[in-house]
Order: sequence, then C-alpha cells, then structure tokens
Amino acid sequence: EKGGFDHFMLKEIYEQPRSIRDCMRGRIYPEEGKVQLGGIKEFVEKLKNIDRIIIVACGTSWHAGLVGEYLIEEYARIPVEVEYASEFRYRNPIITEKDVVIAISQSGETADTMAAIEMAKERGATIFGICNVAGASIPRLTHAGVYTHAGPEIGVASTKAFTAQVTVLTLMAFYMAQQKGTITQSKLIALLTELDNIPDKIQIALESNDLIKEVASKIKDSRNCLFLGRGSGFPVALEGALKLKEISYIHAEGYPAAEMKHGPIALIDEEMPVVFIATQNSSYEKVISNIQEVKARKGKVIAIVTQGDTEVKKMADYCIEIPDSDEAFLPLLATIPLQLLSYHIAVMRGCNVDQPRNLAKSVTVE
Ligand code: F6R
Repeated sequence: EKGGFDHFMLKEIYEQPRSIRDCMRGRIYPEEGKVQLGGIKEFVEKLKNIDRIIIVACGTSWHAGLVGEYLIEEYARIPVEVEYASEFRYRNPIITEKDVVIAISQSGETADTMAAIEMAKERGATIFGICNVAGASIPRLTHAGVYTHAGPEIGVASTKAFTAQVTVLTLMAFYMAQQKGTITQSKLIALLTELDNIPDKIQIALESNDLIKEVASKIKDSRNCLFLGRGSGFPVALEGALKLKEISYIHAEGYPAAEMKHGPIALIDEEMPVVFIATQNSSYEKVISNIQEVKARKGKVIAIVTQGDTEVKKMADYCIEIPDSDEAFLPLLATIPLQLLSYHIAVMRGCNVDQPRNLAKSVTVE
C-alpha cells in the first residue's frame, strides 16, 4: 500500500507530479489561454465585482492561503485577507453579502474552519471551499467549491494536499484575472503553458533527494532551525518550518527574511541552521544580503536556489537546486526540497514520520 516506499509521507511527496496533474486536468487549456472551474462558474458575475476575498483555514492549509493571497492580488487585483479560522470565528469580523470567503481544508472536517464558514454564511457572505476529501462536511457547508483531487493523504503531515491547494488557488487567481480582464491573453497563455510544465519540473526537483539526504545528515542534531523567504517564498518558509517541527520535533520558525534583523538574528550562531528560499526572482538580491548577514554571524546556510545559480553558491554551506520557472510557481517547486529535508531528518532521528506524536489527521475538536 506504500507502493515500495518506507513511509506514506515519502510516497505522497513523490506522488506530487501526478497529483498536481490530476488537479489541473480539464481545468487548464494552455493553447487557448483558458481556465475552466466548473465548481464556481455560476458565481462568475459576482467574482467580477467583489471588493475583497477572505481566506480562512488552519495549519498547512492556512499557508496555502497565504500563497493564494500573493497570487490573487497579483493577477486578479482583488484585496485578500488570510485568517486563521480559529481567530476569525471568535472575533466580531466585518463581513457583508459582498464578501467571498474561501475556506481551505484537506480533510474538510476541521472544526474551527467549519465554525468560521457558518459564521460568515450567517452574515451573508458567499463561501467557496477548497477541499481534498469529496463529500466531507466542509464541501457540504459551502455554496460552491473546487476539489483538489490529490487523492487520499495518509501521512499526518500534509504534503501533496498542500501543493494541490496551491495549484487550485493559482487556477482561481488566473480564472478571476481572466474574468476581470486584469491579465492579457498572451500573458495568460504563457503562464498556463508554464503551469502545464510544473509537474515535470517537480519531478526534476525530486531528483535532488540524495543530496537532500546528505544535507539532512549534517543538520539532524540541531535543536533549532530558521526558515527564511520573501514574497511568496515567505509562506513556503512557514510551511518548511511547520513540516520540520511536526515530524522531527526540532524547534523551527519561519520568518520573512527581512524581519530577521528585527529579532531572530539574535539567535544566530554556528549551531543554527538557516534555510533560505533564494531562487532567482524579484527578491533575489535582497535575499542574498540576508544570507550575508547570517554568514557574518557564522550561521549554517542551506539555500534553495535556481538551477545553475552561482552567486548563492559562493556563500551558502549547502545549495539545493530547483528548476527555473515563472515566479508565480515558485511555491510549488520550492516546497518539494523542504518536504524531503524534514522527512529525512525525522527518519534519521527515529521519529514516527507518518504519525507524529500528539497530532491527528483531522482536527475535529476546537
Ligand atoms: C500540517 C497539517 C495541519 C493541517 C491542519 C488543517 O501538516 O496537516 O496543520 O493542515 O490541521 O487541516 P485541514 O486542511 O484538514 O483543515
């Protein structure tokens, strides 16, 4: 049932080229520059006129929401707020009939996310779901939705469900952009053509597994670890840190790289590994100066870089390459090595990777 893999988590990490393809199937038409989302089609007029979107979720699904915020604001030019469901539901948030709430949940059973949906619904908002488990409670509570089609996820730490959630949010951003006219047809064709290549590029990213295992062996005994990124690399850093703490029990924190100097920099010494998302995109130069700040304090730098990078290689202790792509798809690619890194560290520490202590696959209690 683990398909020859030692753990479900590893199997699910390796399934991602396929799960992302399944998620996009019948939804993108690169040659025509068209995105089709049957689940939310009947709300297209509403989507053209909304003032804002509120995304609610917990844990890893909340990280996917943060990636969604970058994409929807960038392409569809709709303001997005991303909220922890557990905080949102206990505030007295301002919600009107004009709002669209997107609830993201792998299991579709998370109690806080369900309560947030119910509250927003009572106040008249339109609710979309992004779920993996068909027929779960959340898809039944929402007005419409888009399934992630990642297939059953057995490992408690979410991997393929996360990248499928990010894929759906990418499709939603492009769909809304197309409907609103905030993207040119030629740009959309270029983006969809590249999106269609992402499963193959994830396959290439997976080929760094042996190198990642070696890096894991060097940092497995650390007590702490920092993950830093900028732009959409920031939610990737958060997700990398969450994976590491969940399955290896190493204390890890994700931070926006520029925030480091406002506090966490005090933690850096030769014992502290710092994982950077340092791919060649709009924040590349800025990330390089953040890497220099860490090296100046003798921190150990592990960098996720674009294939062929030479600049970061001069400074970092270890570099893990991912294929080049449009910045829009950076989260899908950069997440892969971080999943493998946590996996190998946890295995080397003798942890129960598929069923970490104290965690449950679906959190049905508040
Ligand atoms: C992390 C993880 C959790 C879930 C969270 C929300 O690996 O699995 O943080 O993401 O409990 O669960 P869903 O998405 O089922 O609502």
